[in-house]
Amino acid sequence: MRLQGKTTIVTGAGGGMGLKIVEFFLREGAQVAALDLNTAPVKQAFNQADNSRLVVIEVDVTSESAVIQAVQEVVNRWGKVDALVHAAGIAQPATPVEEVTKAEWERIMAVNVTSAFLLSKAVIPYMKQQRQGVMVHIASIASQRPRPGLNAYIASKGALVALAQALAIELAPFNIRVNALNPGPTDTQMLGQFAADGTDSEQTKATVFKQSVPLGRLIKPEDIAHAAVYLCSDEAQMVTGAVFNVDGGRGL
Ligand SMILES: NC(=O)c1ccc[n+]([C@@H]2O[C@H](COP(=O)([O-])OP(=O)(O)OC[C@H]3O[C@@H](n4cnc5c(N)ncnc54)[C@H](O)[C@@H]3O)[C@@H](O)[C@H]2O)c1
Repeated sequence: MRLQGKTTIVTGAGGGMGLKIVEFFLREGAQVAALDLNTAPVKQAFNQADNSRLVVIEVDVTSESAVIQAVQEVVNRWGKVDALVHAAGIAQPATPVEEVTKAEWERIMAVNVTSAFLLSKAVIPYMKQQRQGVMVHIASIASQRPRPGLNAYIASKGALVALAQALAIELAPFNIRVNALNPGPTDTQMLGQFAADGTDSEQTKATVFKQSVPLGRLIKPEDIAHAAVYLCSDEAQMVTGAVFNVDGGRGL
């Protein structure tokens, strides 16, 4: 019960990593607000009616008003927000940069970075009030070790890491910790979406991505959930501004 009593907002909760994060956080005793644009997977995996520590909220994390409303709903229900784990994100099929449209660029930035600004902005007043809090922004090892064609995605994740570090120094006086978590290639449905259009994504997963991990296997959603539990727990009370790689050595 390493997160006993902690009220946590998990975004991207219906995704591969998000579902595991919700499961692990509930198991560790947290109250969890599971946010996603697509709430069906999380509703299917967990029975809200049976669990007073879970609420599922449909939210587009690029909408400032929707984010504020969701955070307000959490505070109305549990009176506080102790932790934010931001896992919502979108991929980019490998594309030469000159073929990326401005609209595609802006969409990736909005979902992967602007969302983090909006969510952080919405939870910080409550965290400041209680003089404690923790945020984990899920970026990507690609922010340190790029792959060709993932230009907008990599730029968005690099900005997300920089934002996490900027917030870490700004919020340290309020005892609010902010860390970036960089997954390596992780076995979720998103991974196949990084393949160039028209290529076999399953084949790419099994070969290109797996071979790029020195420890010899894809990262599992569980690996990410373990790290998120640690970073949100009191065991990590002196960990802030960290760029925490869970990548099997991919970044080396
Ligand atoms: N899978 C990988 O290989 C990998 C590697 C490094 C980093 N990441 C990052 O990890 C995070 C989780 O990825 P995943 O692999 O679980 O992917 P996923 O596609 O399984 O989950 C992403 C979730 O985000 C949600 N989402 C997308 N846009 C949204 C929006 N506007 N509002 C609310 N929710 C929205 C989706 O509905 C989905 O449930 C992402 O930020 C991703 O960029 C993934």
